[in-house]
Amino acid sequence: MTIRVFENPVEAAAAVAHRLIDAIRAKPSLTLGLPAGRTPIPAYAELRRLNRQGAISLAGTRTFNLDEFVGLRADDPRSFRHFMEANLFEGTDLPPASIEFLDGAAHDLDAECRRYEAAIAGAGGIDLQLVGIGINGHIGFNEPGDRLMADTHRVDLRPETRLANIEQFGGRLAAVPHQALTMGMGTILRAKAIVLVATGESKAEVIARAVREPLTTHLPASFLQTHRSVELYLDRAAAAGF
Ligand code: GLP
Repeated sequence: MTIRVFENPVEAAAAVAHRLIDAIRAKPSLTLGLPAGRTPIPAYAELRRLNRQGAISLAGTRTFNLDEFVGLRADDPRSFRHFMEANLFEGTDLPPASIEFLDGAAHDLDAECRRYEAAIAGAGGIDLQLVGIGINGHIGFNEPGDRLMADTHRVDLRPETRLANIEQFGGRLAAVPHQALTMGMGTILRAKAIVLVATGESKAEVIARAVREPLTTHLPASFLQTHRSVELYLDRAAAAGF
């Protein structure tokens, strides 16, 4: 595991954007795994800025997002799909056909999870998986509990996770879905490389635990210790727990 610490969230974001850009330059047909969440927003802004300037093309890449809320259609402004359009995809040269997403409004959610897992395998797997981390140690929506699921699956969201996502639901907890679809921990760990970005003091404790503590399903991020290519991009505040 490589740990890189930056002075502030802006510098961490710029470094993440350049990490992605370097990977795309090395392999223009890169398959990327991407998270929603507040943390990657500045990195996405930088990537989009450089794409619009013509410094890097996303035309040959393919993206798979980590997760989506159950019950939300792609065009729902509260969906992660909508979030990704607004914060990254829109205005770039990434072809819409190359954007892969879980459909939280699918009629058969289990079939949707199987379709997604097969699509990832069909793409040859994920080359570079960018992830954030929840304050409870979740990766994607792989929540802490007595067990972890390997493949893409439907999950019951924990109360603290629903609370952390309240903003995009107008601050109304009752409006936050109780379930989501997420890549499994195995799906994520099958990526060739994993880049985790975390900023702010609220992530300091969970980052330190994820790196230091023994593996446990009660801290899904601890499973990143088993992967041979994990890079942590932290700001000073998120690294304060070491
Ligand atoms: C969300 C997402 C994760 C994300 C995490 C942290 O609920 N499911 O993919 O990494 O929680 O989000 P944030 O970056 O807003 O702290």
